[in-house]
Amino acid sequence: ANRGAGECSATPAPTSNLRAESCFCGHRLPLRSFLRYPCSMSEKNQPVVHAVVPSAGRGTRFLPITKSVPKEMLPVVDRPAIEYIVREATDAGITDVLFVTRAGKQAIEDYFDAEPGLEADLEKAGKDEALEYVNEYKKYARVHSVRQGHPLGLGHAILQAKSHVGEAPFAVLLPDDLMEPGSQLLRKMIQVRQALGGSVVALLKVTPEQATAYASTAVEVLPVPEGVDLDEGQLMRITGVTEKPPLDEVKSEYAVVGRYLLDPAVFTALENIEPGAGGEYQLTDGYARMIGLPEEAGGGLYGVVIDERRFDTGDKLGYLEANVTLALEDPALGGELRAFLRSKLED
Ligand code: G1P
Repeated sequence: ANRGAGECSATPAPTSNLRAESCFCGHRLPLRSFLRYPCSMSEKNQPVVHAVVPSAGRGTRFLPITKSVPKEMLPVVDRPAIEYIVREATDAGITDVLFVTRAGKQAIEDYFDAEPGLEADLEKAGKDEALEYVNEYKKYARVHSVRQGHPLGLGHAILQAKSHVGEAPFAVLLPDDLMEPGSQLLRKMIQVRQALGGSVVALLKVTPEQATAYASTAVEVLPVPEGVDLDEGQLMRITGVTEKPPLDEVKSEYAVVGRYLLDPAVFTALENIEPGAGGEYQLTDGYARMIGLPEEAGGGLYGVVIDERRFDTGDKLGYLEANVTLALEDPALGGELRAFLRSKLED
């Protein structure tokens, strides 16, 4: 049958069953909510195996290099930025990463693929360490890609993942947001979904001026449920969200940063949104619809306030900060780099 994400797949029950307040697949639902929304096929404790990484941006802030190199491939210390993203997803238990790309971004897929010629040459030459580097991609989740032919916005990019992800909860990682290596954020967001259902986004404390560059949220603090490794005050119920609000419409000090754990019901929402901020189909306008949706239909929107370092590598200064900070922590580079920076700053 041709059905949208989040709809039940079972054979329709006779009308009398509807009156008995049961949806087609036997989930118990209040009749009113079933008539208004499709039933979510995704259970809250369903494991999260998919991540979607939108990588179709033009990287205009990094021109001219992005004429020929995808911005996701720019190195942070000794690895392309995208490797940190895939590693973070893998560490959180994700086994399947889907890149949403466009023409000219093939270097991303090549990076996570085998290179049999190179592997054979290195093996023959006995260059074991180099061979190890070349094979590192095998430690990570399996990667796939789909094209976003037209740059119509982040919401449109995520919709391209619908048939790949199907009716399962999935993570979204925006590659411009680099979390410090070893980040536990995604793992904790998955715990929240498993405790409360619905969708979960990462929140960052910002100034009102900064908030205008993000999705701004209205929030209520929630008690932390058992089994969720968060401190009191770190878990929020989101009651409203606006993409890139003008200063006088900023909702709170909490802005959404690029880590999301979404119920598949968001795909149906994304199919029904209109172009929003900047004339684009905004992901924010899709998950905002989860606020009014009952839990049985995949609804509910929660926020986790991040307590780890995050770098905005989509910005030149943020990119340099990530490089310097992580290089200073690198055992092979940190000592000499620190001495060099000290001497430079004394000049
Ligand atoms: C995107 C999202 C925005 C979010 C931000 C986080 O904006 O649209 O809601 O707050 O990422 O980094 P962008 O930075 O692509 O303009």
